Amino acid sequence: MAVPGIGDRNADWLLVGEGPGAEEDRKGEPFVGQAGKLLDAMLGAIGLSRNKGIYIANAVKCRPPGNRTPASEELAACYPFLARQIALLQPKLIIALGRPAAQVLLNREIRISAERGVPHDYAGIPLIVTYHPAYLLRNQHDKAKAWADLCLARRLVPPQV
Ligand code: URA
Repeated sequence: MAVPGIGDRNADWLLVGEGPGAEEDRKGEPFVGQAGKLLDAMLGAIGLSRNKGIYIANAVKCRPPGNRTPASEELAACYPFLARQIALLQPKLIIALGRPAAQVLLNREIRISAERGVPHDYAGIPLIVTYHPAYLLRNQHDKAKAWADLCLARRLVPPQV
């Protein structure tokens, strides 16, 4: 099923993932699998949860077959939905989780390692680019960097909860 997003519609922070996986496809909610548990734990450590101060969406709204990375045409096809979500939610900060989300929001090819750690801009909204939680499950040594990115986000736009 389509997985548009979930969370607090008055949230200051919008998190954008890649696309629904198998569990998300079944439940209609983003980040409900293992990666989501890590994401919830990281948000919990700074007093946030998916229903409080945060809205979570994905770059593509439907599960790519076999959980593969969304193709650039799929990202482009879903982008108008994401752009509309951003226009409606009017977040004060956007966090792109992983390369596909970052590329679609920055509208260029990037490497997370080269772009993380500094604020970018999406239509006047500060944009932080960081590692995807599924990547962090496989590459634990980069968790500290993702944590630093979250702390940077919190310094830039302290979330109101
Ligand atoms: N990974 C994502 O990028 N989004 C989800 O909703 C689940 C896993």
